[in-house]
Amino acid sequence: MSEHLPLGLDELLTTTRAVRRRLDFSRPIDRKVIDECLEIAVQAPTPSNLQNWHFVVVTELEKKKALADLYRRGRELYLSLPSAEPGMTYREWAVSTPARQKVEQSALYLNKHFEEAPVLFIPCVTGRTDSPAKPKDTVPSVLTQSAQWGSIAPAAWNFMLAARARGLGTCWTSLHLYFEREAAEIIGIPYDEVMQISLIPVAYTLGVDFKAAPRAPMTEIVHWDTW
Ligand SMILES: Cc1cc2nc3c(=O)[nH]c(=O)nc-3n(C[C@H](O)[C@H](O)[C@H](O)COP(=O)(O)O)c2cc1C
Repeated sequence: MSEHLPLGLDELLTTTRAVRRRLDFSRPIDRKVIDECLEIAVQAPTPSNLQNWHFVVVTELEKKKALADLYRRGRELYLSLPSAEPGMTYREWAVSTPARQKVEQSALYLNKHFEEAPVLFIPCVTGRTDSPAKPKDTVPSVLTQSAQWGSIAPAAWNFMLAARARGLGTCWTSLHLYFEREAAEIIGIPYDEVMQISLIPVAYTLGVDFKAAPRAPMTEIVHWDTW
């Protein structure tokens, strides 16, 4: 087994951050470390134990560059769209508070360096949520959507936790999905049957000390017995 950081379980769960600026692009990752993370990923649950997942590990520079370009195009598109805040595009929203500016600075850095991560990881699930499961449905039911996303998000997070335990940083990203079909062509993913969930850069971290992040107070989000 590869080397582990001396982290307690709660520490692992509370310090697995979205790492962007502290990714060490110069340090290679041994394939066996990724294999261990994948073995841990597939201990996650799936509905009826379907195990309807696939995992793409991209290490070839040309493919990483092509995916990074799709991500950058996706981010440009996203930033140009209207945000939930009236009169504000996402570009404006992203710098509208100090906390958002901090995330935006970090996101900009990753945007620039995306392909430099030694590994880009793409969790996938069989079946799509953007086409109806049965011909008479217009959109997949919430139940179907839940089953699809719920089939892969826990495994992807298991992978990210296992990576952190081994000194690797990750960041869940999704903006390449505006061009998911093009990404599928780069890798050879059968787009009509398999949906990509995210594009996750993986690299050793610069330093290993990460902290729990500030979050909204429990009183705003937890509902015991009644909403
Ligand atoms: C579904 C999802 C999509 C995300 N998409 C992106 C993305 O496209 N680009 C990016 O830099 N970060 C993305 N993130 C990372 C979030 O910005 C990050 O998880 C959040 O800011 C909390 O970070 P923290 O846990 O380090 O506090 C995404 C996270 C999730 C869960």
